[in-house]
Amino acid sequence: MVDVTIGHGGHSFLFGRTLGPEGVIVGLDVDKNAIRRAHFILKDIACRVILICANFSQISELVRKEGIERVDFILADLGVCSAHLADVRMGLSFQTDMPLDMRIDQRLKTTAADIVNEADEKSLADLIYKFGEDRGARRIARFIVRERRSRPITTTGQLAAIVCKALGRPGRKQRSRIHPATRTFQALRIAVNNELENLGKLLDSAPELLSKNGRIAVISFHSLEDRLVKNNFKQNESESIYKVITKKPIVPTREEIADNRRVRSAKLRIAERQ
Ligand SMILES: C[S@@+](CC[C@H](N)C(=O)[O-])C[C@H]1O[C@@H](n2cnc3c(N)ncnc32)[C@H](O)[C@@H]1O
Repeated sequence: MVDVTIGHGGHSFLFGRTLGPEGVIVGLDVDKNAIRRAHFILKDIACRVILICANFSQISELVRKEGIERVDFILADLGVCSAHLADVRMGLSFQTDMPLDMRIDQRLKTTAADIVNEADEKSLADLIYKFGEDRGARRIARFIVRERRSRPITTTGQLAAIVCKALGRPGRKQRSRIHPATRTFQALRIAVNNELENLGKLLDSAPELLSKNGRIAVISFHSLEDRLVKNNFKQNESESIYKVITKKPIVPTREEIADNRRVRSAKLRIAERQ
């Protein structure tokens, strides 16, 4: 199997326990610290483990380089792990004031601060609308451009405050809703890390890599990703390449959400190679 988002190795550890010594898990992650942690978590499982610090958009080349032609299972758990949100260097969270960076892969060049301080107003508005689906995108972009004239926007707290100023603080009725800056932060994270493009490449590569009856499972955390997965599976089903196993996505139970609020938007879709 290929766990294309190995993270802390939690999922692979569970799968690995059911595989014997003839099994192989290839684990990918763009974050070298995640690879290091996964090495530690997976060190005692019986099957062979190959961990590579690389982008899942290159899955075909990476797997073939290991001498593997076909795989039985591809697992993608998209989204950000809690360790990333807490990591000051990554600058992903507005709950704490951090440098505005957002690169999960440190080899990338452009940071969120670069975009926010350099993009023209229209491009910023388009980006926040397209990747954040925020109807206040134009207003947010206008406020960003106005604020950066007096001083560059360099921290997550500064950006969150500007978005709140643009959209107004949530009223009493909306208090249980998401923070006003959530969508802007999502948009920038998607742009900085080319998330949709990478997911598209992964989905395109999967059919030629999966063995007959092999499965692909994708857990997504926002509607843009979920739509890509849903449409890709549907299209492949219409061409008799996949059979979609999950007609409706599998979502977390109330108990799972109570246990970990961050999973509330998770959607799991599975397809099987025909
Ligand atoms: C939600 S975590 C995965 C957690 C993992 N399933 C576990 O059990 O610990 C997502 C991981 O995907 C990684 N990631 C994000 N985009 C990636 C990409 N394009 N290629 C490879 N890894 C990526 C992140 O660095 C992060 O470690």
